[in-house]
Amino acid sequence: MKELKLETRVAVYAVGELDNIYRQLYEAAFEASKKAYAPYSKFHVGAAVLLENGEILSGNNQENAAYPSGLCAERTTLFYPDAAVQILAIAAMKDGERVDLITPCGACRQVMLETEQRYNKPMKVLLCGKEEAYLVPSATALLPFCFSKSDLI
Ligand code: THU
Repeated sequence: MKELKLETRVAVYAVGELDNIYRQLYEAAFEASKKAYAPYSKFHVGAAVLLENGEILSGNNQENAAYPSGLCAERTTLFYPDAAVQILAIAAMKDGERVDLITPCGACRQVMLETEQRYNKPMKVLLCGKEEAYLVPSATALLPFCFSKSDLI
């Protein structure tokens, strides 16, 4: 028997320590969360991406009375641009307050991974909290031991 060790390193920043572009994405993600359509969960999630060309795009969760028809903020945002994503920032608000920290759901991690692999560029993920932001080095780091397109070959 041998054991595999799966390790993920996450850098934890005080919000005030974030460099300019990370701070911009942090604010853009919270701003995007304010326009979420979340009448059922009342959990407002925003995502902001920095594309390769320097453009910043954002999106939010879109719910539906037929619940499974809704979509998370991360996927709403990642499905639109046909481009590699350098950084994805995620933030949430509840009752008009910033949520302390949000980490993406499993389905979004799978989509983040596919985007990363499709363009062969690491996607840094910034998880935005009230006082701190967690920087994960890649989508793969958020979904170790994953199923991906290489399994289909
Ligand atoms: N949600 C996201 O948008 N992103 C996540 O990573 C987790 C959950 C949304 C889905 C649903 O609209 C609401 O938050 C409550 O689960």
